[in-house]
Amino acid sequence: MKLLVTGGCGFIGSNFIRYVLREHPDWKIVNLDKLTYAGNPENLKEFEGDPRYRFVKGDITERSLIDDLFGSERFDAVVNFAAESHVDRSILDPGPFIETNVKGVQVLLEAARRYGVGRFLQISTDEVYGPRG
Ligand SMILES: NC(=O)c1ccc[n+]([C@@H]2O[C@H](COP(=O)([O-])OP(=O)(O)OC[C@H]3O[C@@H](n4cnc5c(N)ncnc54)[C@H](O)[C@@H]3O)[C@@H](O)[C@H]2O)c1
Repeated sequence: MKLLVTGGCGFIGSNFIRYVLREHPDWKIVNLDKLTYAGNPENLKEFEGDPRYRFVKGDITERSLIDDLFGSERFDAVVNFAAESHVDRSILDPGPFIETNVKGVQVLLEAARRYGVGRFLQISTDEVYGPRG
């Protein structure tokens, strides 16, 4: 199984990657992260040089980069953690929230459709999915 994990240098994504590589030693992960104020590559330092793990610094809104990645890697699934998640910042500047949380998701979804990726897990919040019953 080969996963594209986006935003994997953030809080939840880095823990997810660590969990997956521990529980599924034969899986591979490409971690695409823009390294904003929220991303820290130190979170995954232990996987440097691990053939199962590849880090790509980049932005999920960049269509050509996403196309190249999907074309060359042939993912089985996409797990999108990449987000502007510090909600208070959106009051000062909503632009990056629209770019990443809306346009970026659309770019990833389109690529998944074009390249026939069968599974897409969108990590989000209760503001989007609604409260649990
Ligand atoms: N942390 C929580 O308690 C919590 C709770 C509920 C839901 N969530 C949701 O889960 C998701 C991940 O949360 P988190 O806490 O890990 O976030 P985070 O802010 O810690 O990490 C986000 C990651 O996305 C990267 N990123 C941002 N914009 C990007 C872009 N355009 N392209 C590529 N990478 C980009 C950042 O560099 C960072 O590594 C978010 O959608 C968040 O709303 C988080």
